[in-house]
Amino acid sequence: METSYKAYKALLNKLSDINYSAAVLGWDQEVYMPTKGADRRAQQLSTLSGISHELFTAETTGTLLEALAKDASLNEEEQANVKETARSYKDSKKYPTEFVMLMSRTTSEAFQAWDKARKSNDFSVFAPFLQKLIDLKKHECKLLGYTEHPYDALLDQFERGMTCKQLDTLFDEVKRELVPLVKQIAACKQNEHAFLHLHFDKQKQWDFGIDLLKQMQYDFESGRQDVSSHPFTTSFSAEDVRVTTRINETDLSEMIWSCIHEGGHALYEQGLKADNYGLPSGEAVSLGIHESQSRMWENQVGRSLAYWKKNYPTLQGYFPEQLKTISVEDFYKAINVVQPSFIRTSADELTYHFHIIIRYELEKALIEGSLEMKDLPAAWNKKYKEYLGIDVPSDAMGVLQDIHWSHGGFGYFATYSLGSFYAAQFFAQAQKDIPGLEAQIEKGELSNLLQWLRTNIHQHGKRYNPNELCKRVTGEELRFSHFLAYAKNKFLPLYGIDNK
Ligand code: CO
Repeated sequence: METSYKAYKALLNKLSDINYSAAVLGWDQEVYMPTKGADRRAQQLSTLSGISHELFTAETTGTLLEALAKDASLNEEEQANVKETARSYKDSKKYPTEFVMLMSRTTSEAFQAWDKARKSNDFSVFAPFLQKLIDLKKHECKLLGYTEHPYDALLDQFERGMTCKQLDTLFDEVKRELVPLVKQIAACKQNEHAFLHLHFDKQKQWDFGIDLLKQMQYDFESGRQDVSSHPFTTSFSAEDVRVTTRINETDLSEMIWSCIHEGGHALYEQGLKADNYGLPSGEAVSLGIHESQSRMWENQVGRSLAYWKKNYPTLQGYFPEQLKTISVEDFYKAINVVQPSFIRTSADELTYHFHIIIRYELEKALIEGSLEMKDLPAAWNKKYKEYLGIDVPSDAMGVLQDIHWSHGGFGYFATYSLGSFYAAQFFAQAQKDIPGLEAQIEKGELSNLLQWLRTNIHQHGKRYNPNELCKRVTGEELRFSHFLAYAKNKFLPLYGIDNK
């Protein structure tokens, strides 16, 4: 067999052809597929993932990677690609086929049970399946291997190199700083935001969303937007990156910030080097860094006063009746209301992180065995009281609200918070590197910011791990202090609190 870098590239291209074809089917499933197509679609997707797994884990792949690891003629980027592929190859070889099949069967049963449990507000329906998943995940931690905490093995799959030790330190600081800040804000007079719930015509919202994506320089010749029940971004190559949005006629916020958020994810995918198709250097580095891109556009840019000084007149043009008496300053206050709530997906920029910390702490406790399944709902409610000061009214609005666990997604939630913290740190650096950035945003000129992201983050793909990338871009590892400074600078004035 041929063991050249050319053969390696050809293999990875072939794998990507299969995986991205599956992604097209997945996109269609969420956006256009009629309900009756579901069973066959599941079969088609499972066939493709089987073919891809078989091809990737073949002994010939191992031989090829071993030969290339010793090939001194490769340049640095080529070596990094081979190393990254070898790491995923090693990981995927750790899973026995029976385990993969058992996991797949258990998650589909668990999903059904979760759906039923949530609808009937009955945790006991989901509990035995969740227990099975936890047992399987514990086993998976052993298969993957870890040094300190079993949960590290799960974290590492989503955020390379992340550990409980690092997260515990980070989240302790988040709690120490944000619990009092949120309490301080909650004691203030709340800003008016009821007008966001007037009636806003669907088509006009859609048109405005397209305006915003164009202004961000999302490339419509390398992508398109559609509607789905849960907004998402998916990519079939750097030259075909799809986004979806959701439109609620009585909640203007849903469309606007899902559009900007997914737009941010999409700009990252469109900014990967098209020639690196299929290679690690042509793929996004991690979920946390991916989320940093969506959140920076959504929050640092899309919830700033400067951004709305430019875009609010356009929005008023679409909805003159609803917004004629609302000033841009009042609009800015309304879109930045901080209020503890039960549901993660509708939480504000600050309280959001408690939703994440709670899930992280509970997942970790279940995996290490310090929390029993029967005590999970009570533990959930206790933490909501402790961190956010609210009483969870039902398990449907509490422990059963997210789909992730039923899919076996453990170790994933933390990347959402990491994304926000990376976003604040990157944006602080962009403000230093781009003179007059705020004035540019105020004029709707976003190209310098996008160019900065392209140069510093997008073009590298998986070339550096998240930690290394963060250090290269900002000169230091991830630090919560950047998010805290951003939060205080923004929210204290919004609530008329002195920032001493
Ligand atoms: Co996202």
